[in-house]
Amino acid sequence: MKLPELRIGNLVAKVPIIQGGMAIRLSTARLAAAVANEGGIGLIAASGLPFDELRYEIQLARKLSPTGIIGINAMVAATQFAGLVKTAIEEGIDLVVAGAGFSRDMFAMGKESGTPIVPIVSSAKLARISEGLGAAAVIVEGCEAGGHLGTDRSAREIVPEVVAAVKNIPVIGAGGVADGRGMAAVLMLGAEAVQVGTRFAVAKESNAHQNFKDKILKAKDIDTVISASVVGHPVRAIKNKLATEYNQAEKDFLAGKKTQEEIEELGAGALRNAVVDGDVEYGSVMAGQIAGLVRKEETCAEILEDLYTGAAKVIKEEAARWADVNV
Ligand SMILES: Cc1cc2nc3c(=O)[nH]c(=O)nc-3n(C[C@H](O)[C@H](O)[C@H](O)COP(=O)(O)O)c2cc1C
Repeated sequence: MKLPELRIGNLVAKVPIIQGGMAIRLSTARLAAAVANEGGIGLIAASGLPFDELRYEIQLARKLSPTGIIGINAMVAATQFAGLVKTAIEEGIDLVVAGAGFSRDMFAMGKESGTPIVPIVSSAKLARISEGLGAAAVIVEGCEAGGHLGTDRSAREIVPEVVAAVKNIPVIGAGGVADGRGMAAVLMLGAEAVQVGTRFAVAKESNAHQNFKDKILKAKDIDTVISASVVGHPVRAIKNKLATEYNQAEKDFLAGKKTQEEIEELGAGALRNAVVDGDVEYGSVMAGQIAGLVRKEETCAEILEDLYTGAAKVIKEEAARWADVNV
């Protein structure tokens, strides 16, 4: 059984799966190209990259996947956001995914060059506004997801709301997808595709430090925690010493015993510490609630095959199970 292709503007992805942007040094050209080569959409994490490095990554991804669909993920709140988008467009990037904030200007930049702009949204209102401004699709991310969170509501609730709110653009669900059944569930909510992060973070082609991957691979179902809800931006990661100390420090802050600067210092460079240096106790091992389902380090080809055929199989089986229901 074949699942429908994902169409974003003129782009056609045979496999309706986007590998979410995840931190520089993690979702690099190598990971994005591996996903794109299998018919999905691969995203290079751009935030924090100097412009020349971003150019290099895009050129490398293009070399590794001459015909695949490659995009960038950039955080709107990041410094240099507009410069990163401009650089990627100059390099002929296929699409721009923008999270962690909202920018009206990016749609004008996309329109001028014909580059699809895909914002990450967490409400029906923002989805509708995005479509009006020219978004080529919207990614709806719920609080199950790994990394920084824009909502305390789950994709289970927001995806159907957004599907009902937009008229002509595809909706892509993100957060909580680690297997075929999870992917099928998001498609049943009305999404046309899924964006997956955590499972690709431990892919063979992911550049993350082995300690980072092992921490996710060993995680149980209840091992993620949200930190920085009080100071900073809420983030979901695997429980470790950093998360425990950060959350305690936030309580101390509320009691007037710690300053904001002291807390921010705790979190500074935390993702890099974990991803690059492998410090999984005092670094931030960002991962989604489904980390407990991710058990193996596999190639992107294996992950995509498992998700795609798994979802197709579940949809077929469930259709057969309910075939006698009259509507
Ligand atoms: C380690 C890690 C880093 C991430 N970094 C970013 C990021 O820089 N920008 C962004 O928009 N999303 C980021 N995300 C979110 C992913 O792109 C994706 O939407 C999310 O992981 C999907 O949920 P899942 O973790 O349940 O698969 C990150 C996720 C993880 C696990």
